[in-house]
Amino acid sequence: GKYRVVSTKPMPGTRWINLLIQNDCRLEICTEKKTILSVEDIIALIGDKCDGVIGQLTEDWGEELFSALSKAGGKAFSNMAVGYNNVNVDAANKYGVAVGNTPGVLTETTAELAASLSLAAARRIVEADEFMRGGLYDGWLPHLFVGNLLKGQTVGVIGAGRIGSAYARMMVEGFKMNLIYFDLYQATRLEKFVTAYAAFLKASGETPVAWKRASTMDEVLQEADVISLHPVLDKTTYHLVNKERLAKMKKEAILINCSRGPVIDEAALVEHLKQNPMFRVGLDVFEEEPYMKPGLAELKNAIVVPHIASASKWTREGMATLAALNVLGKIKGYPVWFDANRVEPFLNENARPPS
Ligand code: GLV
Ligand code: GLV
Repeated sequence: GKYRVVSTKPMPGTRWINLLIQNDCRLEICTEKKTILSVEDIIALIGDKCDGVIGQLTEDWGEELFSALSKAGGKAFSNMAVGYNNVNVDAANKYGVAVGNTPGVLTETTAELAASLSLAAARRIVEADEFMRGGLYDGWLPHLFVGNLLKGQTVGVIGAGRIGSAYARMMVEGFKMNLIYFDLYQATRLEKFVTAYAAFLKASGETPVAWKRASTMDEVLQEADVISLHPVLDKTTYHLVNKERLAKMKKEAILINCSRGPVIDEAALVEHLKQNPMFRVGLDVFEEEPYMKPGLAELKNAIVVPHIASASKWTREGMATLAALNVLGKIKGYPVWFDANRVEPFLNENARPPS
């Protein structure tokens, strides 16, 4: 191979490997056992000559790494993720390194996890499972694990991009929920779908679903029964859900986060969950992964899973393939398949930036 490409982790499937090695690349896959590589580890991997790197969302791709990659002759970096808050795109630009991400292939998989968490929270599945395994079940009772019926309730979506829209559609169509969403951009396709679905229900003699685009995020917080967060993380969405906003939500609301942990002020959330036992959350992401804020793990009204929203076999193989295509395309002089520079943050309502 003419070109040296480094992957900081082994990734699922073989297609991405074949793509690279059949197209003039010598591929090096780091098999280091520790989960999160440091900047120094990655600088060592880059070495003196490296044309492109496929990296992971746990890595800090800033000045140091892009400078090292550029010195080694590198022109391309792809995150194996749709989110790229771990990547300093300005620094990449400064050192002439193109940055790619992997949208599209994880839309449905991520939305399905958000839907799973919504159902699990509404029907208290995790608590009920623990109860059963704990040998506590001694017969059916009218009050046992009574939860919420989603049908006819309102689902609120904050950030109606690819993933938020897919989730909204699942909840509306699957469970006949009403929809309220907030986004700076109009979710035209989603609106068309919900309008057509409402007309279909009406024509079938059923209650049509209702929907609206909220003009403020607070409207969603106040009106929705289940709220799912799907913004990109940047300084405008840091702690988007804080103490004041939690207080605006219904006492029995369900909050789902499969986006990025820092979108929620996690310490404020723990406090809110303690004060409001009927409020429930389903979290896939945490403010300081892999840690959880003290108290969260003990709360029965929280369901927590380890950042697995994109973890289906098809999606993970697709992400690996796109990441390889991004790097290969740039090295070979084709336009980068997915260019993080071209993705506009779509949600920048007035959250407080980090001071
Ligand atoms: C996963 O969190 C991703 O951004 O792809
Ligand atoms: C519950 O199991 C029922 O039959 O209503």
